[in-house]
Amino acid sequence: MNVFEFASTILLKGGLEDKLISSDLINWEFRIKQEPLRVERPVRNDKLQFSKEQIKFPGKGALRDLKQRGKALHFFANHELLAIEMMAQALLLFPGWEESQQKLVVRTLTEEQKHFKLYHDRMNEYGVEFGDYPLNSFFWSFMDKIENDQQFFSVISLTFEQANLDFAKHYMQVFKDLEDFKAFEILNEVYEDEVRHVARGRTELLKSIDDPNQLWQHYCQNLPGVLTPARAKGISFDRDGRRKAGLDDSYISSLEGYNNSFKITQRKQWKS
Ligand SMILES: [Fe+2]
Ligand SMILES: [Fe+2]
Repeated sequence: MNVFEFASTILLKGGLEDKLISSDLINWEFRIKQEPLRVERPVRNDKLQFSKEQIKFPGKGALRDLKQRGKALHFFANHELLAIEMMAQALLLFPGWEESQQKLVVRTLTEEQKHFKLYHDRMNEYGVEFGDYPLNSFFWSFMDKIENDQQFFSVISLTFEQANLDFAKHYMQVFKDLEDFKAFEILNEVYEDEVRHVARGRTELLKSIDDPNQLWQHYCQNLPGVLTPARAKGISFDRDGRRKAGLDDSYISSLEGYNNSFKITQRKQWKS
C-alpha cells in the first residue's frame, strides 16, 4: 500500500488493529497524486466511539487501587490513539509533502502506536480493557481548524506533545512512589520519545522563519481557534526536557511565564 492508503486505513477503518497497522506495509516506491482529504471524525468501532461523558482522572491516593491505575493509563492511551489519528489526518490533509516529511510523520505515528500498545497491555494487567471508560475527542476537535502544516506542528508537537513532557515526568514519579516500576518504565520511554517529537515540531517551525528568535511569536501566531500556549504545559514544568528538545531559554521562559503574566494583568485590572 502507499502512504495514503496507510493513513486512510487508520482513519476510515474502525478496529484497533486498523489504528495499529504497521508502517512496514508502506511501499514508498508506490507514488500517486492525491487530493487533500479532510475527515470530519475518525471511523471507530462501537467500543472505541467518542463520548461526551466527562470522567475524572484518578487522584494520586486513588492510584493505589489497580483498577484506578488502569483508568489513568486508559486516559493516556486515548491521547496516543488521538495522536495516531491526527497524524494520519495530516498525511491526507497535506498530500503534497515531500517524501522525507511524510516519513518523519510516519515514524512519529509509529512511536505513538508503540506508546498506545505499552499503555494498553499494562492496563490489561490491571484488569481494564481499552474502551471500558468514555473516550473524549478533545485533541481531535482542533483538527478541523488546522489549515497548514505550521499550524499542525504548532498544535500537535509544540502544544500537546510538549505538555505531555510535563505529564509524563509527573506521573513517572507518581508510579515510582507506588513502586510500580513497570508503569514507570513505560512513562519513561514515552517521555524520551516525546522529547524527540517536540524537537521534530521545532525543526518544522524553524523551516518557515528566518530568525530562530522569532520561534515563540511564530508558534503563537499558528495556534488556531481558542487554543493558547497554556495548553503546552502540564502539572509541573519540565525545563530540562524542553532544553533537550532544542528549545532555547527565551522560548521556555515565555511559555513558563505565559499564564502568570496573564494573571498579573488580570489582578491589576481587579484593583483599578
Ligand atoms: Fe505518544
Ligand atoms: Fe508524540
